[in-house]
Amino acid sequence: MLLGTQAVNDAGHLEIGGCDTVDLARQFGTPLYVVDETALRDNCRRYQAAFAARYPGESEVSYAGKAFLVTAMARLVEEERLSLDVASSGELYTALQAGFPPERILHHGNYKSDEELTMALDAGVGRIVVDNFFELRRLNSVAGEAGRVQPILLRVAPGIDPHTHRRIRTGQEDSKFGLNVRDGAAMEAIQEALRMPNIKLLGIHCHIGSQLLDAKSHEDAIDVMVAFLAEIRERTGQTMAELNIGGGLGVRYLPDHNPPTYEEFADLVCGALTTSLKRYDLAPPRLLQEPGRALIAETGTTLYTIGPTKRISITEEPGIRYYVSVDGGMSDNPRPQLYDAVYTAMIANRAGQPRDRVVTIAGKHCETDILIWNLPLGDTDQDDILAVQSTGAYNHAMASNYNRFRRPTVVFVQNGQADVVYERETLDDLLSRDRIPERLAKRS
Ligand code: LLP
Repeated sequence: MLLGTQAVNDAGHLEIGGCDTVDLARQFGTPLYVVDETALRDNCRRYQAAFAARYPGESEVSYAGKAFLVTAMARLVEEERLSLDVASSGELYTALQAGFPPERILHHGNYKSDEELTMALDAGVGRIVVDNFFELRRLNSVAGEAGRVQPILLRVAPGIDPHTHRRIRTGQEDSKFGLNVRDGAAMEAIQEALRMPNIKLLGIHCHIGSQLLDAKSHEDAIDVMVAFLAEIRERTGQTMAELNIGGGLGVRYLPDHNPPTYEEFADLVCGALTTSLKRYDLAPPRLLQEPGRALIAETGTTLYTIGPTKRISITEEPGIRYYVSVDGGMSDNPRPQLYDAVYTAMIANRAGQPRDRVVTIAGKHCETDILIWNLPLGDTDQDDILAVQSTGAYNHAMASNYNRFRRPTVVFVQNGQADVVYERETLDDLLSRDRIPERLAKRS
């Protein structure tokens, strides 16, 4: 599986963005996150174009920063003319420091503190996606104190249970996110928001789940959301200007994963929307979306250096297991532990070699942090470079300092050039927040 600009060069090495990954590993050290900037920009353009060409109204694509956000990424997102979703003051601060236009920021979260609401208001964030009654009322009063009228979307739970890992389902009724359509809470919040002097209700939002490998759940959610738009018009006389259907489109982690292309996804989503809108005689609202994974996941590759290998006798077939250790693991990619996520990988310095040996890739943390079980990989040697694919989303973003590991460098590569966008933490960085109370100070 070669993704984006990935290719095998004459030396038999994996190349990304015209850079030899073996050289990258040598130059920047491992673990190393490599982001294929050309593929990333292409994804941003194609996703927008797919919807612009198919949706009869206006459409806006907002990148979900939670998937991967550093200041350079915020710059790229702005250059590609996407909007940006943030889900915390840290993400908001990153965007603002990058000079991202606040009016193109959407602020998310099921518990926005007063501090976060004030920060968002002061910054002039374009839309706050309100999750609950408590937040709606707080926002109305905080906006009032600031002398502002804040544009919002209201997050609703359409009652769709998508088929994806239970930890990344969000659109079902029994969820901590949003207000339920079915039990009337969402309509009550709409009516309350419309009466509020410091709130401008632009529309409704839902996000049903992540890593969805077909558009079925989106189509179902669209039915519910459009019916709800019609109900809002009927009950309040107001036509909502915007409909945000969240993110969720899945990607290829394994060669046999087959998510819809952006164009196929746009066909299905726009088809479902057009049909539903017609049914209720509604004009097309502005269509907003928030893809994270679909834009960034496949553009990321993690390089590791292979260390000790163990051959273990096991009772199950085939009687042997090879544990191949790498110099990272759950601190740079917790997804296998959290969601049973699957990945594939290749030996970057022998990229075309026959995959005639099955191995298990083990991390180096003090627990069983297996990155990949039973991977047909072929021969491995100490100091080989392992390239794990599709690690662009929710890897750096979810990395930790567990076992006091240092978070790895991230480089953007394009046209044979590699630029650092996040520098590997140093051992002193790890100590920089430590404080020693006087009573524990070392006495000479
Ligand atoms: N919008 C909202 C409101 C969201 O909550 C999310 C993801 C997105 C958009 C972007 O979804 P995407 O297009 O990336 O599927 N850490 C998990 C994924 C959690 C997703 C949380 N919300 C993982 O590593 O699989």
